[in-house]
Amino acid sequence: MDELGKRPLDERTAYGRAPQHHDAEITEVGPGTPGGEFMRRYWHPVALAEKVGPKPQNIRILGEDLVLFRDRQGRPGLLYPRCAHRGTTLYYGRVEQEGLRCCYHGWLFDVEGRCLDQPCEPEGGKARHTVRQPWYPLEERYGLVFAYMGPPEKKPVLPRYDCLEILKPGERIHADGASTGGGGDHTVEIVPTNWLNDWENVMDPFHLPILHTTFSGVQFVSEFGIMPQVKWEHADHGMRYIAYRKLDDGREMDRITQVLLPHVRIVPDVRMAEGPATRIGWVLPVDDTHYRLFHAGRVPENFVQREMRAYDGRL
Ligand code: FES
Repeated sequence: MDELGKRPLDERTAYGRAPQHHDAEITEVGPGTPGGEFMRRYWHPVALAEKVGPKPQNIRILGEDLVLFRDRQGRPGLLYPRCAHRGTTLYYGRVEQEGLRCCYHGWLFDVEGRCLDQPCEPEGGKARHTVRQPWYPLEERYGLVFAYMGPPEKKPVLPRYDCLEILKPGERIHADGASTGGGGDHTVEIVPTNWLNDWENVMDPFHLPILHTTFSGVQFVSEFGIMPQVKWEHADHGMRYIAYRKLDDGREMDRITQVLLPHVRIVPDVRMAEGPATRIGWVLPVDDTHYRLFHAGRVPENFVQREMRAYDGRL
């Protein structure tokens, strides 16, 4: 307890407060940090598959700057951006059939970092097989590109989710990478705050009637203004809450929201539609002070992006 905490309540002015600080152990995500190593034991969605093409792009994930591209065979690749030869950024490289060619002396790296060509060396580089550009494994699923950035020997299987595996007739999977704005004109992809602020907020049902329905006006549906009766439960791989409401028309509703370790969020349709969730969300830590969301969900075949906001309530 700091000095302030020892005083009687009536004498606790703002004077003497301890300086602000953050809980580094669970919020920092860089290499070698406890939180960062924890997150590096899981797959993370890092991009929409449709946005990964032959133009290299700089991306930051878990505090690491990397280059993402798709070779001319259609394989996505995620490489450390500084060339293994002289450190030139591969962002300015050229994507070819077999991989990404550095713009400086032309070394060619495949999507797993193997050096395939050293055009300035005799015979394309007799020792090129001894070079490996640092890389991370990728897999594509649900319209997303997932990366595994942890120890190779601990790489888990990329999870599948029931609600995304079994489609009804007339449905398809839609992925989107809007963190706020739901794909509309005010869409924001990268949010300037720590990832945990978003993820832990998913388990807070009481801000809905206050923030999202009273202070802001009705952002989703007016029924959210009814203060729910809530119980929290442990769930497989995470926790969930069940928010019970008796609606004005006499219907009763249990709204079940769930999080799965370390970063999955399952938020039901904010239109208070009945039925199980049809959408999975992932919180991606960009670095210690930024995050972004990716979602994949079942939608009608004729679904268009601007409707997304109505489904999951990202504002
Ligand atoms: S710095 Fe990349 S090939 Fe020389």
